[in-house]
Amino acid sequence: MKGVVLAGGLGTRLHPLTKVTNKHLLPVYDKPMVYYPLECLVNAGINEVMLVTGGSSAGDFLRLLGNGKELGLRRLHYAYQEGEGGIADALNLAEDFADGDKIVVVLGDNIIERNIRSATADYFSQREGAKIILKEVPDPERFGVPEIDGDRIVSIEEKPKAPKSRYAVIGIYFYDGRVFEIIKTLKPSGRGELEITDVNNAYIEAGTMTYEVLDGWWTDAGTFESLHRASNMVAEGGANRLD
Ligand code: DAU
Repeated sequence: MKGVVLAGGLGTRLHPLTKVTNKHLLPVYDKPMVYYPLECLVNAGINEVMLVTGGSSAGDFLRLLGNGKELGLRRLHYAYQEGEGGIADALNLAEDFADGDKIVVVLGDNIIERNIRSATADYFSQREGAKIILKEVPDPERFGVPEIDGDRIVSIEEKPKAPKSRYAVIGIYFYDGRVFEIIKTLKPSGRGELEITDVNNAYIEAGTMTYEVLDGWWTDAGTFESLHRASNMVAEGGANRLD
C-alpha cells in the first residue's frame, strides 16, 4: 500500500502566519506540521509516499524533507497543486503514483496520538472499497459528520449546522483504485472545492465503505485554536506513539 499526504491549499484561516509560508511548514511544538502525517504513515509500515503541495513556498518542502530518508521513507514523490481546488482535487494528482494500488491518504494538518496500524491491516484485507476513521468530538459542526445506523454509515455531511452524530470523519482515508474514477465525477461544492466528503459518500452509496473509531486523541491544526491545541497535546504526551 502507498501513502499520500495532502499539504496544498492556501491556509487562509491562519493569516498572517501563512502569508509567506505554507501552513504545513509551521511549527507544532518541536517539529514542522508536515512531519506528523509523514510519521503516521511510516509507523503504519508505509514507506512509499507522495506529498502534494502548492503555493509559493513549495520548494521549501524539498529543502526540508529531501528524499524522505531521514523520516524513514524509501521514496518520497512530490506533486504540485495549482490553486486551492479542494482535498479531492489535490488527491487527483496522485493518480499515476497510485497506479491502481490501494492508498492511505493523510491530510497534512491532521495529528494523532497513537497509530493506524490495525486500521491499515484491516483495510489491507478488505477486498474493495474504502475505509474512514471516526473520532468523537465536542464540535462536530467543524468537520465531516457521519450519520450512523448500527454498524453502518448512512451518509456524511460536510460541516453541518445540525450534526447527526457527535463524530468527526478524521483526515485519514483508505481508498482503492476506484477513487480516481469517483473524483472525475465530482462537481465543486458551495465553497468552490472538490470535497473529500463527496468521494466518501460515493463509496457509501456503493455499499463498500467501512469505518472504525480512533484510539487516542486526534486534532487538526488549521485554525489558531487547533494549532495551539496541537502544540500543547504533542508537548504533553507526544504524537504518533507506537504503544
Ligand atoms: O480535518 C478533518 C476534516 O478535513 C474533515 O472532517 C472534513 O470532512 C474535510 O473536508 C477537511 O475539512 P477542512 O475544511 O478542515 O479542510 P481544510 O480545507 O483545512 O484542508 C485540510 C488539508 O487538506 C490541508 O491541511 C491541506 C489539504 N488541502 C486542502 C485543500 C482545500 C489540499 O491539499 N488542497 C486543497 O485545495
